[in-house]
Amino acid sequence: MTEEMRGGSTPAVAVLGGGVMGEALLSALLTAGWPTHQVEVVEQHVPRADELAGRYSVRTGATGAQAAARADVVLVAVKPNVVATVLDEIAPVLRGGTVVVSVAAGVPIAAYEQRLPAGTPVVRVMPNTPAVVGKGASAIAPGTRAGEGHLLLVERMLTATGLVVRVAEKDLDAVTAISGSGPAYAFYLIDAMAEAGVLLGLTRDLATRLAAATVEGAGALAVQGEHPAVLRERVSSPGGTTVAAVAELDAHAVRAGVVAAARAAYERSRELGAH
Ligand SMILES: NC(=O)c1ccc[n+]([C@@H]2O[C@H](COP(=O)([O-])OP(=O)(O)OC[C@H]3O[C@@H](n4cnc5c(N)ncnc54)[C@H](OP(=O)(O)O)[C@@H]3O)[C@@H](O)[C@H]2O)c1
Repeated sequence: MTEEMRGGSTPAVAVLGGGVMGEALLSALLTAGWPTHQVEVVEQHVPRADELAGRYSVRTGATGAQAAARADVVLVAVKPNVVATVLDEIAPVLRGGTVVVSVAAGVPIAAYEQRLPAGTPVVRVMPNTPAVVGKGASAIAPGTRAGEGHLLLVERMLTATGLVVRVAEKDLDAVTAISGSGPAYAFYLIDAMAEAGVLLGLTRDLATRLAAATVEGAGALAVQGEHPAVLRERVSSPGGTTVAAVAELDAHAVRAGVVAAARAAYERSRELGAH
């Protein structure tokens, strides 16, 4: 890794795959201060590439190999089943020291290190979709050749996506079960709350807006660090409405259901990663 990559200047990034996650990462890079001429996107679907070029003023149109050859960081944001093809395309042209960062779910670091030149630093990222609005939660795990400087660089790249934490690769299945799949659990809760609102006579639009803003606000309070049980107790006055509601959640084993859901996601993530 060069001094430039450690310091305040901006290494050239090639984003391979301009889908939902590729765009979220591209947008985050620009928000974090990357100049547009230091970022390019390789997206094989031409209308989509044109759309990204128009929206973000970044270079598109190169092949993966062309972009990777001039990049300091290659960000892999294609579907997991395409990763091997992309790595075989870029491996012969990577310059020594180029960092490969991947958001592909379930593809182990060993699969990258096997296909890339020996010594290539690899960092694996498990992001989630709220990254699109800067409220994501991502975990990053280093490969065998990635050091502190590489992790700092990836943290800097992801700073505008929301929370970024470091984990060992073995913990990424658990991360997938909590923050990776977690947005779906929250959407499920919002949908259920909205449905209840409709049952109680509110319009669907109003009930959905109230439910979504409530989950967003509760999340904002919880991230300040107070234990969630304490926050819950604080809104549960004796003999009141909230304690009556929470007693029903317990009676319907909602807590156990959430734990079982996360365990199922964890097992599935392990299964997918094994292939
Ligand atoms: N979305 C999420 O919430 C999320 C969360 C965690 C991790 N991820 C990971 O992020 C990665 C991307 O997911 P996504 O949801 O952004 O998928 P996506 O919307 O399908 O984006 C992938 C893009 O890559 C393009 N592509 C395919 N082969 C390519 C190649 N050889 N070179 C350049 N571009 C190529 C695809 O084009 P075509 O459509 O023409 O094939 C598509 O536009 C996946 O590995 C996923 O596991 C996503």
